[in-house]
Amino acid sequence: MTARQTLSSWKKLQQLAQVKKSQHMNTLFAQDSERFNKFSIELPNMLLDYSKNLIDKETVDGLLALAEETQVCEWREKMFSGEKINKTEDRAVLHTALRRQTDEPLFVDGENITDHVQQQLIKMEAFVNRVREGHWKGYSGKRITDIVNIGVGGSNLGPQMVTEALKHYSDNSVNVHYVSNVDGAQIVEILRPLDPQKVLFIVSSKTFTTTETMTNARTAIKWLTTSSFDESSVAKHFVAVTANKENAMGFGIEKDNIFDMWDWVGGRFSLWSAIGLAIALDLGFEKFKELLEGAHDMDQHFIKAPLQNNMPAIMALISVWNTTFLGSQSQAILPYDQTLHMLTAYLQQAEMESNGKSVTWQGDDVDYATVPSIWGELGINGQHAFYQYLHQSNNVVPADFIGSVESVTPVKGHHETLMSNFFAQTQALMAGVDEQQVRADLKAKGRTQDYIDKVAPHKVHKGNRPTNTILLKRIDPKTLGSLIAAYEHKIFVQGIILQICSFDQWGVELGKGLAADIQQELETDNISEHHDCSTASLMRFYQSAK
Ligand code: F6P
Repeated sequence: MTARQTLSSWKKLQQLAQVKKSQHMNTLFAQDSERFNKFSIELPNMLLDYSKNLIDKETVDGLLALAEETQVCEWREKMFSGEKINKTEDRAVLHTALRRQTDEPLFVDGENITDHVQQQLIKMEAFVNRVREGHWKGYSGKRITDIVNIGVGGSNLGPQMVTEALKHYSDNSVNVHYVSNVDGAQIVEILRPLDPQKVLFIVSSKTFTTTETMTNARTAIKWLTTSSFDESSVAKHFVAVTANKENAMGFGIEKDNIFDMWDWVGGRFSLWSAIGLAIALDLGFEKFKELLEGAHDMDQHFIKAPLQNNMPAIMALISVWNTTFLGSQSQAILPYDQTLHMLTAYLQQAEMESNGKSVTWQGDDVDYATVPSIWGELGINGQHAFYQYLHQSNNVVPADFIGSVESVTPVKGHHETLMSNFFAQTQALMAGVDEQQVRADLKAKGRTQDYIDKVAPHKVHKGNRPTNTILLKRIDPKTLGSLIAAYEHKIFVQGIILQICSFDQWGVELGKGLAADIQQELETDNISEHHDCSTASLMRFYQSAK
């Protein structure tokens, strides 16, 4: 048993979970017409309705008591003030410092990082303006028309998700492309229509060691120099964003073309840094600053709002309730705004790389469920694919429904249809329809008794499936910044409550190391005897089939 399970709030929640499991949300709604008012939070640009969860006041009080007993507020203070809460890597966790709207100093290891952040923002702004206004020229004197961001994981997902979400705000001064996959098919397809004289590459890698990114960057350099016949053209077509300047320079990237990252910014929380350069190039620096402001607004809400009215904290508590106490194993993220089509992929990394772990801070095994697996798709597409499972499978999948009051690209008749589905789905998942109702409906339609007996059990929807609804005013840079920051803080609170070190990612290292060895074996055609027979046979089959 871990320390968490000995807390009185934990034990209370375990007992409550047993009781709640036998209740239906329909009853809870019937008993309390104030449920929505009690279990929703309204902020200037968004609303969270969490009333469609298997909760009541006692449960929420229990969850808030858990937050108190696990000292969420104290840990929040530690994070924002720069204490090294990433214990396994001995690092501060300060992505929030990248969007602070103040000159006040903030120190990490005796250095005022506010200065560093501001210097980089100034450097970014000057660079972004030069490129967008056509003053930055390629090797043949032509202006840059296309930006190719090379990076993977946090050095790709955040910037690309935001670029996609805010497309509407781009003035198309430049076209932005993203390469993340080491499968050459991606970079070849992206580069095929581009003119090397007019392309600027951003090599985004915190470590500047990631194989996929280095391989793609080498291919890009080759593509450029095959056209320019001149190694010095790299200076005009490559910039890097990294915490490892030495490696970037060793790679041939000019010192002045390198933007800083710091070890106190986790890769999956880095879009607010120069890792977001492609966003700023696409939208212009002012819009990038609005994105930061939106995130900062959410930081302020997270710091100041009492936990019972604190959107990220409540999102985390509901997730812990559904996962750890009620036993759901996965969670769906279902955006109903086309612009958010990459949000699920982004949140998969944010949440699963952060909290997909099973030892406590002290290194003890946890014997409770930590985070669910995150999956999903644009809600409307999902409705015609996997919603059957959400409604009627015997696994309960709590889901976040995210939609907007206004569409950024209104087309007559579309938004109402979209949002009608949005509202209908959470109602259906919660309320379901029982057999009596199914039979009555079929009878009203004039169906025969035989038909009703045959079909009725298949049409029963048990309902009682938890959802959160996040209703945004409209996707714009500020609102998007706030939404992303809300999820970041949700993930932080989950980690604290579950005693998970949310800021390392050792789980991706094992495979990385093995892949490096295997690559060498494939290249030298010397397959080691140390592999298990499945892996060795697959490698031999691959080699001989080539
Ligand atoms: O997947 C592991 C990981 O380290 C992520 O945390 C990170 O976002 C990604 O690889 C890319 O790392 P880098 O920016 O160092 O290339």
